[in-house]
Amino acid sequence: MITYNREAKTWKLDTPHTSYVMGLVDGKYLAHIYYGASISDGNLTYLVRANENPFVPSQNPAEKQGFLDVCPMEYPACGTGDFRQGAISVENVCGQEGLELVYKCQMIVAGKPPIPGLPASFDTKAGDEKQASSCDTLVITLEDPLLGVEVDVLYTPFDDVDVIARSVVVRNKGREPLHLTRVLSACLDVGGEGGEELLTLYGTWAREHQIERRPVTHGGEVVEALRGESGHDSQPFMALLSEHASYESGRVYALQLVYSGDLMGHVKENAFDSIRMVMGIHPEHFAWKLMPGEAFYAPEAVLTFSDQGLGNMSRTLHDFDRTHLIRSKWKFAKRPVLINNWEATYFDFTAEKLLQIAQEASKAGIDMLVCDDGWFGHNRNQPSGSLGDWFVNEAKMEGGLAHLDAELRKLHMRLGLWFEPEMISVDSDLYRAHPDWVLQLKGRTPSLCRDQYVLDFSNPAVIRYLIDSIEKVLRSAPIAYIKWDMNRPLSDVGSNYLPADQQKEIWHRHVLGIYKIQETLLCDFPDLLIENCSSGGARFDAGMLYYSPQIWCSDDMDPIERAMIHEGTELIYPVSAMGSHICKTPNDITGRNVPFRTRAFSAMIGTFGYELDITKLPGEERALIREQVAFYKKVMQPLVLEGDYYRLESLRINGAFDAQMLVSKNKREAVVFFLQGLARPNTKSRLLRLQGLDPLRNYRIEEVKFGSDSEGNSSDWMDGPVLGGMDGAVLTGDTLMHAGILIEHARIDFWSTMVHLKS
Ligand code: DGJ
Repeated sequence: MITYNREAKTWKLDTPHTSYVMGLVDGKYLAHIYYGASISDGNLTYLVRANENPFVPSQNPAEKQGFLDVCPMEYPACGTGDFRQGAISVENVCGQEGLELVYKCQMIVAGKPPIPGLPASFDTKAGDEKQASSCDTLVITLEDPLLGVEVDVLYTPFDDVDVIARSVVVRNKGREPLHLTRVLSACLDVGGEGGEELLTLYGTWAREHQIERRPVTHGGEVVEALRGESGHDSQPFMALLSEHASYESGRVYALQLVYSGDLMGHVKENAFDSIRMVMGIHPEHFAWKLMPGEAFYAPEAVLTFSDQGLGNMSRTLHDFDRTHLIRSKWKFAKRPVLINNWEATYFDFTAEKLLQIAQEASKAGIDMLVCDDGWFGHNRNQPSGSLGDWFVNEAKMEGGLAHLDAELRKLHMRLGLWFEPEMISVDSDLYRAHPDWVLQLKGRTPSLCRDQYVLDFSNPAVIRYLIDSIEKVLRSAPIAYIKWDMNRPLSDVGSNYLPADQQKEIWHRHVLGIYKIQETLLCDFPDLLIENCSSGGARFDAGMLYYSPQIWCSDDMDPIERAMIHEGTELIYPVSAMGSHICKTPNDITGRNVPFRTRAFSAMIGTFGYELDITKLPGEERALIREQVAFYKKVMQPLVLEGDYYRLESLRINGAFDAQMLVSKNKREAVVFFLQGLARPNTKSRLLRLQGLDPLRNYRIEEVKFGSDSEGNSSDWMDGPVLGGMDGAVLTGDTLMHAGILIEHARIDFWSTMVHLKS
């Protein structure tokens, strides 16, 4: 809900449990006043301290700069006196940078306007015609009359989830071209209380989304990605935590960017205990020439506040993504359980080999075969060839994709296909025809990475070529799913297409190109399921989620590494988005041997699949797969798609065990996944206090066992943790949450158990 106080010139935005207040100071500066738990009053301008030294400019013009440098600003401009991180910077025709933004007007529009060319959240009405709109949008227009710059700052508080979406439009209303050198998406100036921490997610290939906490300092803390994609390095996310905040308690301000390219977040405390958080496209790789009459749209930023710790923040973001951000018709639909051939065969496969895998997979109830890298061009038997040549290699794929699809249909399976559209190999027909389509700096040979170059997405001919060639493949056979991969960062970022004064636009134009292609594919093939991927999870972000309801989380499928990767991913993204497969053992990346059941349970907290050569598994393991798939489809998938996520314990923190829960929205059903690290001698059972249950409901507790015989002995169960004699017991939710359950210690490294609770 949005409340505008015309006299006081204040705005109050309310979500179910939070309030956000801003107002005009000195009649023209848009100041931030309050963000936190719901409050009743909206006129709180006293909080701006306008009556304290240095006072507002109309009272003390001699210290205008001092005022601009301390006033909590909603959208701070650079170059005229605010020396904190600014949100916007503009260079005029004289090459001078600096602007001052003052209030011009405001309006409230029904629903949530889309952002041209960019992914953005939507009200439920736009996502589902059957539901009523759940939000309005406040548009406040600021201006710099001298430059002829107008800036709309947009705020959408949602009525059904504690999120405020923000975005920015910059218009050139003047007569001269302008160069935007920084347009961030959001700024949040909050009062510090001391001891605040910044939480971010960093990583690299095979170790994505690692949680890191560090103190907020007066020197400033940065989160940034400079590789042309949101990247392994840094998630487009940061959270400001009150001292000692945990999963269950503490204050959390979270800021997330709905964007898939270079990004910067910055947090710094000033000398007056005020903390500024900003986030947006990284200014280092950004400039945009804005001609008179043109507009520039910055990506959306998502804000949420929780006074019940990180767990509540996670559930808010998960609900928001599932209800208002993931656009795919697949978001709540049962996703296919798939088998992917990458780690089964790498490049060494034929259609016949794929069908052998599919035959075994179909017996286990697996729904889809995903043909990974290697099916296309003339020479894709190693990473160096054929990227860009999106036509089937008939030598490997005898009969082509239509034949493969027809054979799969006989097995009641569908076909999924891998692409890496942003890339080009030197050994490709595409490169031989268009060497100028490669990103390159004049006179310099571009750096290869994974033996490939990056295509110039600022050139519309490149985008057209990719849409046409991918769509031709999709029309050649009814492909149900594509895995869109991206296996190198952008370097040598120069375009043969753009003029000299627009070269710095390439980074953002690259991202716009990806969005345009995925948007077009989904428009032309509305049933298509896209799974995004980038060398594992290097582009797992809210921008890509708009197009693809699931994203490949990491090439590292070892459940022990995945425990850390999943904890970071689940912190901000729904588990239904987390691509998760059972790998072979020992694991190809870590060399670790992990029990089959642990690999299965770990992968079931996500969009489930297999990535191993099922034809090489012993018969009893193939039989277990049948049971795993059936259990996933019946019990796990509904909880993964629609349930609430609770983090109980963290292997990252305690070094010994990990535990998490999924609970159905109606609280009638839940699963607990408990994972043990190394077996330890002479230990007692673990006490686990459950969360999220209905305190008054009775729950029947069952350990999930695959491979049980008629007497209940399980081939997959052996000497693992058992529920301290509680298997089959019935207890109330309050007992389970306050007194807890016991998980006995297993004398097997990396053992795990899954507990099914049903009311
Ligand atoms: C990287 C992806 O993360 C893998 O899953 C696989 O698709 C390879 N690329 C193929 O080249």
